[in-house]
Amino acid sequence: MIVNLKGKTAIVTGASQGIGRAVSLALSNKGANVVLASRNEEKLLTLQHEITKGGGNALGVKSDVRLVEDCKRLAQQALDVYGQIDILINNAAVRVVGPIDTSNPEEVTEMVRVNILGVYYCTHAVLPSMKARSTGHIINISSGVGKKYFPQGPMYCATKFAVRAFSESLRKQIQKWKIRVTTVYPGRTDTQMVAEFSPEEREKFLRPEHVAGAIVHALQYPEAVSMNEISIRSTWQEE
Ligand SMILES: NC(=O)c1ccc[n+]([C@@H]2O[C@H](COP(=O)([O-])OP(=O)(O)OC[C@H]3O[C@@H](n4cnc5c(N)ncnc54)[C@H](OP(=O)(O)O)[C@@H]3O)[C@@H](O)[C@H]2O)c1
Repeated sequence: MIVNLKGKTAIVTGASQGIGRAVSLALSNKGANVVLASRNEEKLLTLQHEITKGGGNALGVKSDVRLVEDCKRLAQQALDVYGQIDILINNAAVRVVGPIDTSNPEEVTEMVRVNILGVYYCTHAVLPSMKARSTGHIINISSGVGKKYFPQGPMYCATKFAVRAFSESLRKQIQKWKIRVTTVYPGRTDTQMVAEFSPEEREKFLRPEHVAGAIVHALQYPEAVSMNEISIRSTWQEE
């Protein structure tokens, strides 16, 4: 049994590129209204145009998930334009890796703000309206390194473990309002985030559309079914 996503409203953070862009397009293809959030307004408006030109509904809202006021405004604009928020995809993140002793503490602090506080701020902003309707689905994008230790980037790894902890705890806190929470653990995916890999290596990675397909699959389960987690990786990924 598949739930129709037509007319549902989804906020996607980090929609300007990569996995967020692919999820936004996939949701729009299923008939959802998509609220596109990231800092790059030009890219958001290009995607908004692409979706609306194809007959879909999309609204680009320039937002920085490090800022609580931006996240509140994002949720409010979704409510003002579409009347409800059914889905939140907490996808925005940055990846700072390398030796800890030579890392830049300011850069790492910003990563913590985006990857952890951004997830909290956006969840905080949408929950009142989801609780009031006693329905909703929150998808939090962690990573394969949110489950296993990753020596190349201890702080990036820590942020993704944090998303996992937040997500698992949140599910238990809000299940009585019938709000579902799914944590996604993608393996390496060919996006700007992993641009340092060679073309030959990236060829073997997942495509953003593969991750988007798994997310749409989870969202299409009936309300009585919660796909708590999704682990997805390329068949060729070794670790
Ligand atoms: N690629 C991989 O191999 C991989 C593997 C596992 C998990 N993941 C996870 O998948 C998710 C998507 O990553 P991706 O690979 O698609 O990366 P990406 O191509 O670098 O996209 C990251 C997105 O986050 C947005 N973003 C960054 N800082 C932001 C901020 N302060 N406020 C709002 N938006 C912000 C960016 O948009 P702006 O710059 O326009 O703000 C961009 O749209 C992330 O959670 C990542 O950790 C990726």
